[in-house]
Amino acid sequence: MSVTVTVADLNQSAPAEEGQTVLDALLAHGIGFAYSCQAGNCGTCRCELVSGDIMELEYSEHALSVDERSRGIVLACRSQVWSDVVVRRLEAESFIVHPSRVLRCKVADMTLLTHDILRLRMDIVTGGPFTFSAGQFASLEFPVVPGIVRDYSMANRPDERQLEFHIRIMPTPESVSGRLAAGLRPGDMVKVSGPLGTAYLRSRHAGAMLCVAGGSGLAPVKSIVETALEEGFDQPVHLYFGARAERDVYFEAELAELQRRFRRFKAHIVLSAPDAQTAPTLLPRRVGLVTEAVAADFPAMKGFKVYIAGPPPMVDAATALVRERGIESRDIHADAFFPAANATKQTAEAR
Ligand code: FES
Repeated sequence: MSVTVTVADLNQSAPAEEGQTVLDALLAHGIGFAYSCQAGNCGTCRCELVSGDIMELEYSEHALSVDERSRGIVLACRSQVWSDVVVRRLEAESFIVHPSRVLRCKVADMTLLTHDILRLRMDIVTGGPFTFSAGQFASLEFPVVPGIVRDYSMANRPDERQLEFHIRIMPTPESVSGRLAAGLRPGDMVKVSGPLGTAYLRSRHAGAMLCVAGGSGLAPVKSIVETALEEGFDQPVHLYFGARAERDVYFEAELAELQRRFRRFKAHIVLSAPDAQTAPTLLPRRVGLVTEAVAADFPAMKGFKVYIAGPPPMVDAATALVRERGIESRDIHADAFFPAANATKQTAEAR
């Protein structure tokens, strides 16, 4: 029986025999599709399975990771069709891979940005060069808590020499962050492994950008926004920073300065539990949940690329909201910061 294979983003279809692979069917009918090994080893033919039943032939994990598969990505050369199937090509920027490095870095500076967020700046001593995409993270191992690894996002732009991380200090002194806040000193050496994560800046996106950050989720979002603006990204960029109260707000002066320099950039600070404001602020405050502010400002969204980072409930709520507003999963890049007590930060593209 003949079925149909459609490439959604090309709006082209080809007939296929049941059991034929997606790639074979497309190539047999002259539909252009990137491939190389045709044997499940290289990953060139990765694509998103939009709908339909497939049976997958064996492939190498180097070609398609478990994480990618869980996000609905398949290999066209390994996917046999058993019904009408729709696939979509991945955007080129989904393939960015930086060399994996293990760096030894020296602590240059430690500064409290709020009552519980510590900025750590470090110089790379050995193991570089370190290349990454804005929004990615690395695993850090500190000499004061040897053998324990925690994941933190790079807050600096990829072109900046010094690495910057924002670390939320847990109130318990015996926690990893509590111990490093008490014991880490400038001059100490830190092991940094990475880069990791797929929720990174897609510079070639043609539409507007929405960034939603909660707490220290501002770190990757800072890197993404600064990188996009400095690289000349010419579409509107909207940043919503959700914090609990005034004492949790940071990076305000930098956001105000970015807004002054780049007219297409707009920053919103949203407080969920504001105290009585005593001093004037550089940026106005909004009150409520950060997702409520986004919902109020954008009854509809078209063509947006969305980046979300912060506590899991906020990431889930923001992801659900932008999906409701019509943003497709492939345009949502979410980075959920799980509590560090017994888990490291996990990154996942929104599914
Ligand atoms: Fe190499 Fe499909 S072409 S994995």
